[in-house]
Amino acid sequence: MLVLGGGRMGAALVGGLLRSGWIEASDLVVADRRELARRDLGHRYPGVAVSDCPVEADSAVLAVKPHDAERAAIALAEVGPPARVMSIVAGVPVSHLQSWLGPQTAVLRAMPNMPAVLGGAASAVAGGPSAKEEDFAWAEAVLSSFGVVARVPEELLDAVTGLSGSGPAYVLMLVEAMVEAGIEQGLDREASNLLVTHTLLGTARMLAETGESPVALRASVTSPGGTTAAGVRALEANGFRSAVMEAVAAAAEKSRQLGQDELG
Ligand SMILES: NC(=O)c1ccc[n+]([C@@H]2O[C@H](COP(=O)([O-])OP(=O)(O)OC[C@H]3O[C@@H](n4cnc5c(N)ncnc54)[C@H](OP(=O)(O)O)[C@@H]3O)[C@@H](O)[C@H]2O)c1
Repeated sequence: MLVLGGGRMGAALVGGLLRSGWIEASDLVVADRRELARRDLGHRYPGVAVSDCPVEADSAVLAVKPHDAERAAIALAEVGPPARVMSIVAGVPVSHLQSWLGPQTAVLRAMPNMPAVLGGAASAVAGGPSAKEEDFAWAEAVLSSFGVVARVPEELLDAVTGLSGSGPAYVLMLVEAMVEAGIEQGLDREASNLLVTHTLLGTARMLAETGESPVALRASVTSPGGTTAAGVRALEANGFRSAVMEAVAAAAEKSRQLGQDELG
């Protein structure tokens, strides 16, 4: 399997794949035109072959920046079209990838997010008309090596970009605000940071591990007329829910616009 583009996301993918044991290092090749990236990958992942250009492979992940996608996909097709390609390039539709790669390649598109670098990504994957069930199974196995994955229709990938793609920034903004609030209440920064970070981690674990809905979990910590109820009412009065919904909608719309600009 080839990973074309060994930058931040390509390297995270290689790390995830090796950690998961789903593939042997000797079955992976990473192509990157930057010598420094190749040297770094070679050190970090012994046994993984590195190359300065695409090589023939049965399957490939395209992990270059959007403006490099066309050239990289055409170069990949020229060395021998892979049976399947998954692109994680933001904003480039399956139809374009398919035309660059040719009809013999099954094409899928995915949107991972930043925690991929720690193996904690939330990714979505969509397939073009050429993608069969076994191609989805392959793509989902690859993405699962660094997190969780949901299957969506391609037209929802902009929504995914606004939700989980940009989501880490919204959550981090909440953390920043809560840490500041803790300091305002008299805590020092270190204590406030520790308490907020672990409030986030603990709550995320409860959501992921209990299978309870956020509404049910929130109700379980909110007694009528109590302290949490007072805090929640202040959030509602200040438009918290609608601010979050508008943030997702604005980011999704920006993703749609960028996709159109990218394609001229
Ligand atoms: N970072 C995220 O959180 C995130 C989330 C979801 C999706 N993505 C998508 O993931 C993709 C990769 O992002 P990234 O942050 O990993 O980018 P990156 O760090 O720039 O990595 C891409 C690497 O590929 C190399 N490259 C470009 N064209 C090539 C070619 N034809 N042959 C060989 N190597 C080539 C680049 O070299 P040069 O430096 O010389 O260009 C660079 O080293 C982007 O399309 C982005 O939209 C990123």
